Amino acid sequence: MKYDRLESTLFDKNRKKLIKFIHSNSLVIVHSNDQMPRNGDQYFPFRQNSDLFYLSGIDQEKTILTLCPNHPNKDLREILFIIESNEKIAVWEGHKYTREEAIKTSGITNIKYLSEFEQIFRELAIYAENIYLNLNENSKFKPDVISADERFLNRLRFEFPAHKIERLAPLMKKLRLKKEPEEIEIMQKACEITNKAFFRIMKFVNPGVNEYEVEAELTHEFLWNKATGHAYAPIVASGKNACVLHYVENNKACNDGDLLLIDFGAEYANYAADCTRTIPVNGKFTQRQKECYEAVLRVMKKAISLMIPGTTINKLNEQVECMFQEEHIKLGLYSKEDVEKQDPEKPLVKKYYPHGTCHFIGLDVHDVGDRTVILEEGMVLTCEPGLYIPEENIGIRIENDILVALKPVDLMGAIPKEVDEIEQLMVKTRVDIS
Ligand code: GLY
Ligand code: MN
Ligand code: MN
Repeated sequence: MKYDRLESTLFDKNRKKLIKFIHSNSLVIVHSNDQMPRNGDQYFPFRQNSDLFYLSGIDQEKTILTLCPNHPNKDLREILFIIESNEKIAVWEGHKYTREEAIKTSGITNIKYLSEFEQIFRELAIYAENIYLNLNENSKFKPDVISADERFLNRLRFEFPAHKIERLAPLMKKLRLKKEPEEIEIMQKACEITNKAFFRIMKFVNPGVNEYEVEAELTHEFLWNKATGHAYAPIVASGKNACVLHYVENNKACNDGDLLLIDFGAEYANYAADCTRTIPVNGKFTQRQKECYEAVLRVMKKAISLMIPGTTINKLNEQVECMFQEEHIKLGLYSKEDVEKQDPEKPLVKKYYPHGTCHFIGLDVHDVGDRTVILEEGMVLTCEPGLYIPEENIGIRIENDILVALKPVDLMGAIPKEVDEIEQLMVKTRVDIS
């Protein structure tokens, strides 16, 4: 791991919160993510399962956590199963957690090796009436690949058909939505690294640089600051490319007179930052670009002020659409009369603002939680209004991560977003690469 060691008290606290929600006489089993095969004899870089990390802080493959809080044998209430390293693993793969390190990281005192899992699992399962498994319940995402937890479900159904299988995912969602102060601190660190990367590219962007060169600068700054890397594939989109919402090719030259939209965020200790800035490639917005940019910025500022306890993402989306409709009319994109005549199934506002304003963020960039969740203090969401006019080569989005509170806290307040700030910074710091 590149990040500084986290205190195990966070993971202790997370497990304690979880066991308050489970039925008595229950067993919770959470597996780490599988190593994903790449090709030949290689794996993709390992990324821990966010729920296992949340409950243990362990950042290693082939890990299993079991919680059986009412078990009469105290030693069996909380167990972490890890790889037992050996000389060959040490030579080929490197260091794996020792028992002591696993205790220090997770706060769990009973650390077992995987070879002991079968026998202990049987003892736990026979005691428990309910077994909680963590299955993928993302309504928008159904991967083809079966997870270790899903494979385990098949096994349980065969070996213990009379046990009641319970859903862990709704509980994890409830817990992960509200961040602990320690989590906010880690997220703030991810935002700080993202901020540094922004300052780095402000020195670098000039007419003629390639989008992938900007991506490389981001990566450089992230790694120098102990981020694992990008929290998601960065979007570095100049001119019209910025109107493709999930543009990740990043392979074009940035032209004089164009805007450059950069959607980027560091992942630090498995927590994500998600930021977007839009800057003029040559350091100065044209009058029209400035008008459009300031419209988005006005909407963003109003939207942030609405991210308070009691509202929902659905409500925020509606409010932002109303704001944008007004801004679009002022920008001459359509008229009030056009709105009166519009097809309600295809509102004009969606033509220039086709996405939503917020998503939850945390261990995953699109974190647990849907648009109907009632916001509470301690939740963190993005605020990311945008304006896309391909016929004018304009694609603008501004995105910050916001902590919900009576007075919402902008975790990215330090990353410049005013027109003057951006222009002055680009004039002052740019390196001439011609
Ligand atoms: N970077 C992905 C998003 O903004 O949702
Ligand atoms: Mn986002
Ligand atoms: Mn983003």
